[in-house]
Amino acid sequence: MKKRTLPQIIEIPHFSNPLGQLGVVQVSETVPFAIKRVYFLHDVPAGSVRGSHAHKGLHQLIIPANGSFRVTLNDGESETSYLLDTPDKGLLIHPGYWRTLDNFSEGSVAMVLASELYDESDYIRDFKSFKEWAES
Ligand code: TYD
Repeated sequence: MKKRTLPQIIEIPHFSNPLGQLGVVQVSETVPFAIKRVYFLHDVPAGSVRGSHAHKGLHQLIIPANGSFRVTLNDGESETSYLLDTPDKGLLIHPGYWRTLDNFSEGSVAMVLASELYDESDYIRDFKSFKEWAES
């Protein structure tokens, strides 16, 4: 069985004033890895399911920059779902979790901060292969 670090909800510090909200993610203070890549999902059509893969070595912090969506994490044995619906709370995901993102609200934006550059060889895109990898 692969060793894993549990996912965690991270508070994103915000500076608020009458002109709006400013959220800050700072390495070490907010996120425990050096950020090498940022990507974001937006204009996701209603009913879409994104993700459906696992990473062998990537750490990520997913922040609902706008709107809401659900993230379901599977460790090969059990599943936990998180509703991300406020930009002051992000979900920290360590390697070894099969993740699915769905229930995107209209106009939602999923911002993802990642510990590594894009590397297709870090992905496991088949659930059966993921189960075998997770058990090894
Ligand atoms: P994919 O990981 O399949 O999206 P999701 O898991 O959100 O459904 O990525 C979609 C496409 O984008 C795929 O062709 C790979 C490409 N991509 C990059 O080139 N760089 C990146 O950093 C990411 C996240 C994806």
